[in-house]
Amino acid sequence: MKRVLSGIQPSGNLHLGNYFGALRQWLQLQNDHECFFFLADLHSLTTVRNGDELRSLTLEAAITYLACGLDPAKSVLFRQSDVSYHTDLAWILSTIIPKGLMERAHSYKDKVAKGISATVGLFTYPVLMAADILLYRTDLVPVGKDQKQHVEIARDIAEKFHHLYDEAFVLPEPYIPEDVAVIPGTDGQKMSKSYHNTIPIFTDETQLMKTVMGIVTDSTGVDEKKVPEGNIVYELYKLVAPAQSDEMAAKFREGGYGYGDAKKDLLSGLKHFLEPIWEERRKIEARKGYVEEVLDDGAHKAQAEAEMVMAKVRGLVGI
Ligand code: ADP
Ligand code: TRP
Repeated sequence: MKRVLSGIQPSGNLHLGNYFGALRQWLQLQNDHECFFFLADLHSLTTVRNGDELRSLTLEAAITYLACGLDPAKSVLFRQSDVSYHTDLAWILSTIIPKGLMERAHSYKDKVAKGISATVGLFTYPVLMAADILLYRTDLVPVGKDQKQHVEIARDIAEKFHHLYDEAFVLPEPYIPEDVAVIPGTDGQKMSKSYHNTIPIFTDETQLMKTVMGIVTDSTGVDEKKVPEGNIVYELYKLVAPAQSDEMAAKFREGGYGYGDAKKDLLSGLKHFLEPIWEERRKIEARKGYVEEVLDDGAHKAQAEAEMVMAKVRGLVGI
């Protein structure tokens, strides 16, 4: 049994890229491993500038975790800001990290290029992420490919700490199944809230239809034969309706099956896939106070776990 930890920034509504790139792996891992999943609200402070908005986005992400099937009886679910050891450890780690290591991290440059303010917090974001991971003696970190470098940085930082002081951490590894490394968005780029190309997990049927009909396709005519692989409609269908995807591939290859038809099939596949998650959300919302209860309980468990590593670290560094 391994120790697994991951988190998502609650800075927007979660989408199918988050589901297939991260949450689905979490759902599988929670059955056989000791799992900690959190809402990275401290990380979201780098982009969300309104307290009420962040509080409500964090709650929304917690509902999404639960509705997708994360089970508080199997996993510890918590809010990052409820365990103040994250920021304590981040500071200590920041004092041993060479500045050059942070400068090599590509996500800072990517984010600034997308228009996010170039703050010190955004620059040192990987330090806080390393603290998240190392506090829980994490073996495996299930994330999408874009986060791989951050997990490697956490590992480098742990090694550096061990070299300077003594053993305190477990060296983490990223967990990234190849087939879900990058989920395409409606325009073919990586699905991401910053590209406005997402299919949100929670939406209504009209909006879902508009989003699917807006998926970018090439200009191959209805009658022509088509290559399914690499086609966004097919790639998404394969994820939401794996049992029927061979059938769609065959229809594309035969010809006489247009993108309009394929989008209708994708839409019905998506509804079938999302409806149970929507239903679960309705049940969760009917239980007043349930989400807060789960997060409070998770915070206690996470706190107790993080405390052990933190005590060791404080002892080693002399505070
Ligand atoms: P976004 O790009 O929408 O801001 P985040 O960076 O908050 O998403 O991602 C949260 C988690 O979901 C991370 O583990 C990330 O790797 C994963 N993820 C997000 N989008 C995708 C995608 N298109 N394909 C694969 N994984 C993704
Ligand atoms: N940086 C991650 C993202 O943007 C979120 C995150 C913060 C995280 N701390 C983490 C993921 C620790 C895994 C482990 O998606």
